[in-house]
Amino acid sequence: MSLRVSHHLLLCATASKAACCNPDIGKASWTRLKAMVKELDLEDVERPQGVVLRSKVDCLRICSDGPILLIWPDGIWYGGVTPERTESIVREHVFGGQPIEDWIIRRTPFK
Ligand code: FES
Repeated sequence: MSLRVSHHLLLCATASKAACCNPDIGKASWTRLKAMVKELDLEDVERPQGVVLRSKVDCLRICSDGPILLIWPDGIWYGGVTPERTESIVREHVFGGQPIEDWIIRRTPFK
């Protein structure tokens, strides 16, 4: 079975070494991310743009100014993520297609 995917969100929310953020902020950001994906119905397999995948990862190898949220396929890395920022990023970037420039700390496009 094939599944169309629009984005994959990776958040270093509760890293085992807590190298880049307060784990409480990471945990709350992860909770908000999941809630936003659900609220906006981004996991609907019938969604024309494809589903949004989400993964809580241990470490994205930046390890400062975190939590870090990496969004593929855009190759956009957000730093200093909070629950409030997570909500805005999911709403404006993932759902609305408009990245939030002020919070982007790195870009790693595929091409
Ligand atoms: S713990 Fe967040 S990038 Fe390493």
